[in-house]
Amino acid sequence: MKLDGVLSDVRLTQPLAPELAQLEIRGLEYDSRRVEPGFLFFAFPGSRADGRQFAQDAVARGALAVVGESEPPAPLAGHLPAGWVQVEHGRQALSLSARNFYDKPDEQLAITGVTGTNGKTTTAYLIDSVLRAAGNTTAMIGTIEYHLAGRVLKAVNTTPESLDLVRLFTELRQSAGTHATMEVSSHALALNRVYGLHFHTAVFTNLTRDHLDFHGTMEAYFAAKQMLFDGAGGPPPRFAVLNRDDEYARRIQLDPKTQAIWYGLGQEAELRARQISSGFQGLKFEVQHGKLRWAVESPLIGKINVYNILAACGAGLSYGLAPETIALGIRDLRAVPGRFERVDLGQPFVVVVDYAHTDDALRNTIAVARGLNPKRVITLFGCGGDRDRTKRPLMGQAAAEASDFVVLTSDNPRSEDPLAIMNDALVGIRRKDVPHVVEPDRAAAIARALKEAREGDIVILAGKGHETYQVLKDKTIDFDDRQVAREVLKGYGYHRDE
Ligand SMILES: Nc1ncnc2c1ncn2[C@@H]1O[C@H](COP(=O)(O)OP(=O)(O)OP(=O)(O)O)[C@@H](O)[C@H]1O
Ligand SMILES: [Mg+2]
Repeated sequence: MKLDGVLSDVRLTQPLAPELAQLEIRGLEYDSRRVEPGFLFFAFPGSRADGRQFAQDAVARGALAVVGESEPPAPLAGHLPAGWVQVEHGRQALSLSARNFYDKPDEQLAITGVTGTNGKTTTAYLIDSVLRAAGNTTAMIGTIEYHLAGRVLKAVNTTPESLDLVRLFTELRQSAGTHATMEVSSHALALNRVYGLHFHTAVFTNLTRDHLDFHGTMEAYFAAKQMLFDGAGGPPPRFAVLNRDDEYARRIQLDPKTQAIWYGLGQEAELRARQISSGFQGLKFEVQHGKLRWAVESPLIGKINVYNILAACGAGLSYGLAPETIALGIRDLRAVPGRFERVDLGQPFVVVVDYAHTDDALRNTIAVARGLNPKRVITLFGCGGDRDRTKRPLMGQAAAEASDFVVLTSDNPRSEDPLAIMNDALVGIRRKDVPHVVEPDRAAAIARALKEAREGDIVILAGKGHETYQVLKDKTIDFDDRQVAREVLKGYGYHRDE
């Protein structure tokens, strides 16, 4: 594609020189290490390094031209054949160019974006499951991993860089895919990673104080979320699925062409849940939408997931799916990896793996477990090394406050001494009078926690969730709480296939 085609709709600071406009561009890159001859390189200040430093490297590797927000850096000027194209906004230019170069795959797909402080990952999994239940070939892009037409890819960011995102969409198209569901973090919106994309459906879960280190104020955080509903450089979404029970969702301004679907537990919501029952086996309730009523069942645990399921119902309705299909998709999502994920080999107690790794999250997870009325809650946790030390006693206290038995172990000790980390956490545990044991070896600690469990108890293995490794001082080893728990349970004589 010619450079002027690649840069179509991109705001330049001055018209493209004719000799540049006709350059034949073979590929796009923002990482100079991946540049090949004939590429167009995007150099803009990133969060870690100033991309302009890499412009020279990119040129040396054969980049035909460099796109940047600034004036060309001195050594590059006159260092033709590479030309420098100055744009008003580097990240917007990258996103628009990626869409141009790859022939706008987002316009040929039905894309759902999920934004909000909590519940994005869970909601995205649910929506994807609903779309697959309807027989579609799909992609799902989020925090834990990316799914692409049945394949699982490692996630780089919750929302990938625009160029990578457009490439994923292109791959999905090549696999005859039709629908993509993605978490759209507020960082991604603020950093223009979805700039110019066409969204069919935008979902807003909720907004609470979080990520203020990045956005500064609650208003700036809200403004980032609002961008998704304005279209973020593209047309506004055709449908908006919004949580009526969230005060910020109600403040979202919708374009007159966007059709709203409000979900919630109160009368004001047009899509709502009734007769909720929540227990060890998951959730059951009735969904109402206008005159429609249908029953849903989900293996997901905890009432908070009623919201996520309603959001997924709303997204399903935005695609015109039948209630039975939506219900099927919801029933089929057995767990979100590492989010209150059960390990069940038929033992008479519940074992869950959860990624809670702050005192708040630990408290929440234990509260969800308590809500199921177990005989006892046994909590295993550890604290990460080379990270905030002040949170260790707080985590210890959170675990001790609400549990009946605590197993303190290692998380990712990194370069620190595991025993020293545990000592910090012990200070918090000892503030409460709770039985506890200390076992630095995480596998042995899991065995200890499971040995303690009796019929009717819940064991929470907290901290690592979906992680499949443990970072030690001198190496990273394979380690998966779910797998270790399974092995231990097998060793104790349980064997039912999951
Ligand atoms: N709808 C919800 N409202 C409030 N809290 C929720 C909701 N859904 C899930 N949670 C809580 O938030 C945690 C994170 O859920 P999830 O991973 O789905 O959210 P997320 O928005 O993707 O979060 P992150 O930004 O960490 O990726 C869950 O473990 C649960 O405790
Ligand atoms: Mg997430």
